[in-house]
Amino acid sequence: MSLPLIFLQLVVAWLLGAVSMAASQALPGCENHCARDCYNKQYLREYYNDPWMTSAKFPISNDQNKFIAVGCDTYAVIKGSQGQKYTTGCLSLCDSIDNVINGSCSGIGCCQAIIPKEVRSFNITVNSYEKHANVWDFNPCSYAFVVEDNTYNFSSLDLKNFQNRTTVSVVLDWSVGNETCDEARKNQTSYACKENSECYNFDNGPGYRCNCSEGYEGNPYLSNGCQDIDECMISSPCNMTCHNLPGTYNCSCPKGFEGDGSKHGSGCRQIPSKRLPLVNIALGISISMLVLLLGGSWLYWGFRHRKIIKLREKFFEQNGGIMLQQQLSKRDGSLQSSERHGSDSGSGGQGTVYKGILQDGTIVAIKKSKIGDKSQVLQFINEITILSQINHTNVVKLLGCCLETQVPLLVYEFVTNGTLYDHIHTRSRSSSSLTWENRLCIAIETAGVLSYLHSAADPPIIHRDIKSNNILLDENYTAKVSDFGASKLFPTDQTQLTTLVQGTLGYLDPEYFHTSQLTEKSDVYSFGVLLVELLTGKKAICYDRPEKEKFSHVFCFLDEKEKDRLFEIVDEQVINEGKAEQLKEFAIVAKGCLEVKGDERPTMNEIAMELQGLKMVEKHQWVKDNNNLEETRSLLGEVSVAYSDGGGTSISAAYDSMTNHVISPFDGGR
Ligand SMILES: *[C@@H]1O[C@H](CO)[C@@H](O)[C@H](O)[C@H]1NC(C)=O
Ligand SMILES: *[C@@H]1O[C@H](CO)[C@@H](O)[C@H](O)[C@H]1NC(C)=O
Ligand SMILES: *[C@@H]1O[C@H](CO)[C@@H](O)[C@H](O)[C@H]1NC(C)=O
Ligand SMILES: *[C@@H]1O[C@H](CO)[C@@H](O)[C@H](O)[C@H]1NC(C)=O
Ligand SMILES: *[C@@H]1O[C@H](CO)[C@@H](O)[C@H](O)[C@H]1NC(C)=O
Ligand SMILES: *[C@@H]1O[C@H](CO)[C@@H](O)[C@H](O)[C@H]1NC(C)=O
Ligand SMILES: *[C@@H]1O[C@H](CO)[C@@H](O)[C@H](O)[C@H]1NC(C)=O
Ligand SMILES: *[C@@H]1O[C@H](CO)[C@@H](O)[C@H](O)[C@H]1NC(C)=O
Ligand SMILES: *[C@@H]1O[C@H](CO)[C@@H](O)[C@H](O)[C@H]1NC(C)=O
Repeated sequence: MSLPLIFLQLVVAWLLGAVSMAASQALPGCENHCARDCYNKQYLREYYNDPWMTSAKFPISNDQNKFIAVGCDTYAVIKGSQGQKYTTGCLSLCDSIDNVINGSCSGIGCCQAIIPKEVRSFNITVNSYEKHANVWDFNPCSYAFVVEDNTYNFSSLDLKNFQNRTTVSVVLDWSVGNETCDEARKNQTSYACKENSECYNFDNGPGYRCNCSEGYEGNPYLSNGCQDIDECMISSPCNMTCHNLPGTYNCSCPKGFEGDGSKHGSGCRQIPSKRLPLVNIALGISISMLVLLLGGSWLYWGFRHRKIIKLREKFFEQNGGIMLQQQLSKRDGSLQSSERHGSDSGSGGQGTVYKGILQDGTIVAIKKSKIGDKSQVLQFINEITILSQINHTNVVKLLGCCLETQVPLLVYEFVTNGTLYDHIHTRSRSSSSLTWENRLCIAIETAGVLSYLHSAADPPIIHRDIKSNNILLDENYTAKVSDFGASKLFPTDQTQLTTLVQGTLGYLDPEYFHTSQLTEKSDVYSFGVLLVELLTGKKAICYDRPEKEKFSHVFCFLDEKEKDRLFEIVDEQVINEGKAEQLKEFAIVAKGCLEVKGDERPTMNEIAMELQGLKMVEKHQWVKDNNNLEETRSLLGEVSVAYSDGGGTSISAAYDSMTNHVISPFDGGR
């Protein structure tokens, strides 16, 4: 019996008995409810019993009882009387006790039959064919009885006397009421199945039974009788993680595992392939980020590039590029191609000059305008316009300009040796070897440039800012005139031009200063100041002089000359090297340049010839006589002679050669 609690086990005892006859007392075996048929040696029936059993309330369990007959000359019959009507039986025969098998009930010495359903009472009869005549020695009786299945074990010993057995047990079934589950459920107060239980219809008669639901155990007829089974504790059905739930349980796998988690299912397996999607996701993310980055930077650079172009255009316009284009196109377009060269280097202040190195290694000077200075921008444009028309050895070369930067840049050839001003005024005597000959050459070269500007250039150009700062010197002390920012193109059909007075204090033509009438003679005056500077080695403005002489050393010079004390003011080095006659001539030329009235000043042509003449004269033998002031005076008186015919053919010849040189500057070197 698997569930003895559920089944009411009815033990039916047949006691040898009080009610039985005395004769039967000698006979062994079960009485009352065992059928028996016994014979003596004479094959006469000695004892016979056919019992009857009834159980009105409880049906005989059909599946837990068997009908069994024991004997070797035996047939037994069982008849149902109440409930289901039926008759069944079995036959057991054997010839020798050696034929029977202990434990086997299959017709030799023992036979069995199944009890049908819904049996409530039965009559048993047992009989023999031969009255045990052939088997009496070992089997004088036949037996038949109903017994709980699996409790009776046939033995050969039972054939003799049934081993004096007094009891056999029979199982009776029971059920609740005489209704089906569906009918019984209608009255919950009388319904016998409690929580967590199920009802099922009894199959061996009317009524129903209850069973605890799956996952529960206990008594289903008691309140809370069915208790949850903790499967995890009892059977540990899971491979890794087990959760007990009411009536059931579930299995799960921890992270990184897959499967149903059940020991009887797929269990838990480590997931090896999960890395792949992770790698894919990472790859996807990085690729899209890369694409985003590339796209972003492409857009950024594109935008920046456009911005830079816009900015360049803006700067080009702001820096007068359009004005320059117009001016240049007025002449011819030949120079336009060269206007956008130059290297962007250096930074800083107001019209400052930087030294720069181009990509090809060329050293250049870069002049940078002050930020936002409109007038300076105009000067730059002016300078570009003018310098682009001049091609002269003694004019600093403009290599290019850059108008697309914030401030315009002008790029010049780099002149190595600094300004004339530096050499005269700031360098120490020993480091500067600016000899008299150098000075004369510089004067001649500068005069040549101005002469070229005034008469050979078309239209004529007035420099307007001749001063020692604007004369650059290369390593051979060759002069390079620079800074044409203030220069004016002088229309040929006009003899004078009214402009805003512009120039450098000390070099400024007093007549121009007063009248604002610009003529070429203004340059002549400035050049005169330059000559004085070369001769005396003193600055154009001498602040350290007394009030009267402060304005310009030119006045000092003029004073000194009138007092015939020329050699007191002439630079020491010049006195030592220069020949007195030359110095005097030079001084006379300077004086001529410095005439107050412009008309009285010589032209640059004449001055150039004059100075050239001085150079020629140097080649001849001169008597050096520094102390003869009389000579000086007489020479000063001969100025007009010197202009008219004093120079003679040698001077004009010299000038002619210089004119040629000016017109075709690349024909020969210096
Ligand atoms: C019945 O008896 C035989 C021998 O006597 C034995 O081998 C067998 O195990 C028994 N069976 C039961 C169910 O007791
Ligand atoms: C069973 O036995 C009883 C008592 O001897 C008797 O009254 C009844 O008729 C019998 N039933 C059958 C079917 O023989
Ligand atoms: C059956 O078992 C009994 C003891 O339980 C033994 O004495 C007897 O000889 C056995 N019979 C057979 C046929 O093996
Ligand atoms: C059964 O009873 C008889 C007589 O009462 C006796 O002789 C015999 O020894 C008994 N057998 C067993 C196995 O007890
Ligand atoms: C069921 O049992 C009740 C009393 O227990 C009885 O009154 C009723 O007649 C029975 N019904 C049937 C169909 O047997
Ligand atoms: C339900 O059963 C109870 C107890 O057996 C009884 O008193 C009651 O009358 C029944 N109700 C119905 C509706 O049958
Ligand atoms: C009742 O429950 C038991 C134990 O759970 C089970 O063995 C039996 O088969 C169930 N009966 C029915 C009819 O479900
Ligand atoms: C889970 O299952 C795997 C195989 O499926 C087995 O190797 C492992 O021992 C099991 N673990 C447990 C706790 O049962
Ligand atoms: C198992 O039960 C636990 C506890 O209720 C729950 O958290 C988990 O999700 C369940 N797992 C599955 C696979 O149903």
